[in-house]
Amino acid sequence: MGKDKIVVTRNIPEPIVARLRDAAHVFLWEQDEVAIPREVLLKEASDASAIYTNLTDRIDRELFDAAPNLRVVANLAVGFDNIDIAEATRRGIPVGNTPGVLTETTADLAFALLMAAARRIPEADRFVRDGNWKSWSPMLLTGQDVHGATIGIIGMGRIGEAVARRAKGFEMNILYHNRSRRPEAEQALGAQYREMDDLLRESDYVVLMAPATAETGKMIGQRELALMKPNAIFVNASRGTNVDEEALYDALKERKIWAAGLDVFEREPIGADHPLLALDNVVVAPHIGSASIATRTRMAMITADNILLGLAGERLLHAVNP
Ligand code: DGY
Repeated sequence: MGKDKIVVTRNIPEPIVARLRDAAHVFLWEQDEVAIPREVLLKEASDASAIYTNLTDRIDRELFDAAPNLRVVANLAVGFDNIDIAEATRRGIPVGNTPGVLTETTADLAFALLMAAARRIPEADRFVRDGNWKSWSPMLLTGQDVHGATIGIIGMGRIGEAVARRAKGFEMNILYHNRSRRPEAEQALGAQYREMDDLLRESDYVVLMAPATAETGKMIGQRELALMKPNAIFVNASRGTNVDEEALYDALKERKIWAAGLDVFEREPIGADHPLLALDNVVVAPHIGSASIATRTRMAMITADNILLGLAGERLLHAVNP
């Protein structure tokens, strides 16, 4: 039997590629700027035993049909909405992800967006660089206080809880909404459970951390935005598909809510001419929630572990199949 082939759909740190090469023949898509084109992925998958994927790759029935020898898929992310898990499971293909290691890093980014939107940091930065700073003045670029405010976290999983820990440090009043109550978070952090509408009505900061599922699609739309306070700041570091972006744009433009901090978008990459980007009360980032050097390196290593375990026919470190 020949060597296994692993398709790696993005450039990853060299030592990790070397580890994979020790075990198998590796096809590496080396361009950082561009995702692997669909036709290249389908072609390379045709004789692959494993695919090392990331969230820009659609791993669906067509792909599985094109890859008859596939024994494992491992995603360089905790989220796996780019993969048809039911189809993989039906074919007996384990799918790996990277939970845990990115929790704190992603919570850092969510909180950074929250603070940047509250204190208008990108706007202030542009103001100074554009030479508009003529004099100190009492109400110049005034924003919202973070300390002591009420934060409402939607999706109290690992990352939601890590956001709550940061909020506790800022002496915020912590509300949360989740599919099930989280008594540990209530006890440890003083977080209070709220029904969704109550959370939206009461929060100064609404932070969305829910995964993308059939139930969460556009869960924040016109109705939900209308319930938020006029000073509310909305932060999304989960998935863009959880939000009705047109409704969000309207709410921000008409100042029905105060600002938003967004790391994720309905379509990624968001076009530079997207209407949201013309608004001063929007702070954006290009889906970099887990993007610290240490965390991305750990995620890349776990993904490699998942691949190698899958090829060896062993249990993955983290498998998402039911
Ligand atoms: C994830 O892990 O799901 C992030 O969105 C990408 O790092």
